[in-house]
Amino acid sequence: MTTSSKTRLGRARAGANFALIKYWGKADARLNVPAVGSISITLDALFTETSVALDPNLASDELTLNGRRRDEDLEKISACLDLLRLKAEVTTRAAVTSTNNFPTGAGLASSASGFAALVCAAEAALGLELTPRERSILARQGSGSAARSIFGGFVEMHAGNSADGNDSFAEPLLDKDAWPLEVVIAVTTKAEKEVGSRSGMTRSATSSPYYAAWVTGQPADLRVGRDAIRARDFGALAEIAEHNCLKMHAAAMSAQPPLVYWNGATVECMHAIRRLRAGGVPVFFTIDAGPQVKAVCAPGARPKVEAALRGLPGVLELLTSRLGPGACTTP
Ligand code: DP6
Repeated sequence: MTTSSKTRLGRARAGANFALIKYWGKADARLNVPAVGSISITLDALFTETSVALDPNLASDELTLNGRRRDEDLEKISACLDLLRLKAEVTTRAAVTSTNNFPTGAGLASSASGFAALVCAAEAALGLELTPRERSILARQGSGSAARSIFGGFVEMHAGNSADGNDSFAEPLLDKDAWPLEVVIAVTTKAEKEVGSRSGMTRSATSSPYYAAWVTGQPADLRVGRDAIRARDFGALAEIAEHNCLKMHAAAMSAQPPLVYWNGATVECMHAIRRLRAGGVPVFFTIDAGPQVKAVCAPGARPKVEAALRGLPGVLELLTSRLGPGACTTP
């Protein structure tokens, strides 16, 4: 092991991503291997920017998130950095500074963009040259959904089945410019969620009578979703994405104690989006472990979707985004 006397800095940016076919449940909690594959889109306008400064004078890692020290999140960050330090054969501690340009911890995929940016920034600071697949595997160990933010556009995450988790990584499915969908996010609260994805998954897996059916049904949903994306078949993608999202929430709601991530505005948005689609506007919804609603729009549909969601009671703000690139280092 070597330690350098100089501070070394790496910086990176990664877009948030939302799953259209969801990840919910783990096969191996220690290695953070998901029980199911997933398919997502990476966003352009919602991102995390992270810098990692390796500092020989530090006795332990430090984390500043959105301008505030976050000691409560340090364990996961240090564990992720340790995996990279091991590869680089250094032990130097790091000061990590990270900023999200969107609400943190409210079901807007901050852990996905956060760990993807962390891996890329740490790689640069440590002078490693990883392959995209290695980055994805490392990001997965920080947070499962982060494995997908390494790539841009449409992305598929493979659950894998090897004991070491090394076949559990994401891969690009379709380029962002090949099908330029847009997203309108209805923000219905800015509060951090009460039950995070990680404990929500455990609770669903251990107590929901529907969890086994959720896992068994996933390969078929992935096939339909993958085929719809490859064929740019918006109608088919809309049907399977809404169905898959509601199945995930059914497994959460039927846990004990129940996990109801929605509020009233969430439900109003779902109905409004389904009404729009019935009226010929190509849009569908997806919802993660929080009450925000993501409306995925075919090219050209965004203005009508924004107009319909803006007026709904309980919708605090609309965010919009195109599809974006994968995680990358920044100067
Ligand atoms: C509902 O990736 O946050 O957003 O691996 O425990 O960090 P951990 O979970 P995380 O879970 C994301 C769950 C989801 C669905 C999805 O993004 O696929």
